[in-house]
Amino acid sequence: MVRVLLTGATGFLGAFLEAELRRRELDFVLAGRNAELEMDLAAPDSIAAALRESRADLILNAAAWSTPGECARDPAAAKRINGDAVGLLAGSGLRMLQVSTDLVFSGLEGPYLPTAEAAPLHEYGASKRAGELAALESGALVIRLPLLFGRLSHSSRGASGMLRESLEERRPLGLFVDEYRTPLHAGDAARILVDLLVDDDLLGLHHLAGPERLSRWEFGQRFLSVHGLQTDLWSPASRGDGVGRAKDVSLISDWRVGRSLDAALAEA
Ligand SMILES: NC(=O)c1ccc[n+]([C@@H]2O[C@H](COP(=O)([O-])OP(=O)(O)OC[C@H]3O[C@@H](n4cnc5c(N)ncnc54)[C@H](OP(=O)(O)O)[C@@H]3O)[C@@H](O)[C@H]2O)c1
Repeated sequence: MVRVLLTGATGFLGAFLEAELRRRELDFVLAGRNAELEMDLAAPDSIAAALRESRADLILNAAAWSTPGECARDPAAAKRINGDAVGLLAGSGLRMLQVSTDLVFSGLEGPYLPTAEAAPLHEYGASKRAGELAALESGALVIRLPLLFGRLSHSSRGASGMLRESLEERRPLGLFVDEYRTPLHAGDAARILVDLLVDDDLLGLHHLAGPERLSRWEFGQRFLSVHGLQTDLWSPASRGDGVGRAKDVSLISDWRVGRSLDAALAEA
């Protein structure tokens, strides 16, 4: 049986990936700063040591420094973690799936095909683009994902977690009417990513996106409608001058997810 090294399991997507690996009864090891196999992506030595110890056949890299504001404050660290570290993992020679993001695009020309030119608006997007290039150079598989949502018992992360938190804490929320994404349930993402890593020999750069393109505001309204809820806490908002916020980074997907947005939102 193949053994998978999963990074980022303490994160939002990583929690769904770990659950998917468990569901399939695959052999895996979790690597990270707070994981059974110690690995700090900012420290090349620890990456090399973890790779040696892991006895892994496959790498699923879902770790990232994922907060655009923090990446902007320390672009060099963002590049180390989201860019250079990816090159070190992919350079191991093991089959690897690198998770990337719709935020490598400027948002001026969406919806985007995988062949469209990347033009990040901020350091986070630039560091993730550096990671894509490093992964591709070493022959890895790179999958760009859109805005993710889903329900985790222990966390309010993800696009729907933020909505739930606002309702539960009675906190007002402005939702952009002019920012378009193709939202995807993290559980659907995890199922397809594990398929692609384990059961396929696909390489190169691809898009995996949800079935519909909609604004943050529309996403919120659909969430309410699916759950039979109403609220006066949310108001339509605008990106304003749009600095650092991409207008339309919706992705044209290489795969169909297999269920409707409403069906996925019912589990969020
Ligand atoms: N969430 C979304 O909507 C979305 C959309 C598109 C693409 N993505 C992509 O999906 C992937 C996962 O994103 P996410 O939202 O799940 O992120 P997240 O919730 O912020 O989790 C990030 C993970 O990375 C780990 N990590 C951060 N710095 C590290 C370091 N120096 N060494 C080792 N591990 C480190 C964190 O572990 P600790 O902090 O515990 O060490 C955590 O497990 C990323 O590649 C992201 O670009 C996410």
